[in-house]
Amino acid sequence: MKNLFKKINAFLKGFIFVVKPHYLFGFLRKPMLFSYNTLSLSKWISKQDRRGTFNDFYTSKRDYSRRYKLYQHVVDSMELANTPIDYFEFGVSQAHSFRWWVNANTNSKSKFYGFDTFEGLPEAWGVLFKKGDMSAIIPDIHDNRVEFFKGLFQDTFLPFTKTHELNTDRIKIIHLDADLFSSTLFILTSIAPFLKKGDILLFDEFNVPNHEFLAFQCFTQSYYVKTNLIGAVNNYLQVALEISE
Ligand SMILES: C[S@@+](CC[C@H](N)C(=O)[O-])C[C@H]1O[C@@H](n2cnc3c(N)ncnc32)[C@H](O)[C@@H]1O
Repeated sequence: MKNLFKKINAFLKGFIFVVKPHYLFGFLRKPMLFSYNTLSLSKWISKQDRRGTFNDFYTSKRDYSRRYKLYQHVVDSMELANTPIDYFEFGVSQAHSFRWWVNANTNSKSKFYGFDTFEGLPEAWGVLFKKGDMSAIIPDIHDNRVEFFKGLFQDTFLPFTKTHELNTDRIKIIHLDADLFSSTLFILTSIAPFLKKGDILLFDEFNVPNHEFLAFQCFTQSYYVKTNLIGAVNNYLQVALEISE
């Protein structure tokens, strides 16, 4: 039975590649991927244990500034206001969120690392944002705990890991705000060896099915990482998760 199945499977695969169905049906690839990821996201959301978390689901109004309330909840519930932390932000642009975190933590041993091309998105994001959008000048923040790394994450992050101590006892906050699937997945997989239980992942556009959510799915499924929800706002657009395993 197994052998028959293998033969049919091999025949059908070969047949499909010979017929070249992408000529006729290639236009279905994106909508099918989007549908698949939307269903996966819906399933993921329905599985979250919302008891005791900071969560506005379901809300009929999106209010982007609500993300600061989520950050405040993370700081309060994890007692981070004066604890030494290693804060990483991937996608800094004008540093609105970055400045918030620098001001929220007063411990002199904390480190704040910001990564960005500062020349905008390296590729288009959906249909509304094109390559180069969101460019900004490197923020001028007078605080010796802060360092910025200009360039593609793909060029700056691995050299950074060789010159900076990442295996510290300090809690890591990884803020993923690069919007793109490629950038988010690259960072999650590159920082994976340095993550430990209790570290925090923040996403800024989590409920975009083909981008941050897909990167999160690929990462957690490939690295067997498990997370607990700390909170979410704007119907899971901004999400805070704690690494649990
Ligand atoms: C939405 S903006 C960040 C906004 C910022 N966190 C805030 O709250 O003000 C996204 C940024 O990600 C950066 N970005 C995306 N992919 C990148 C990559 N692979 N390497 C470096 N920067 C990247 C873009 O340059 C852009 O500035």
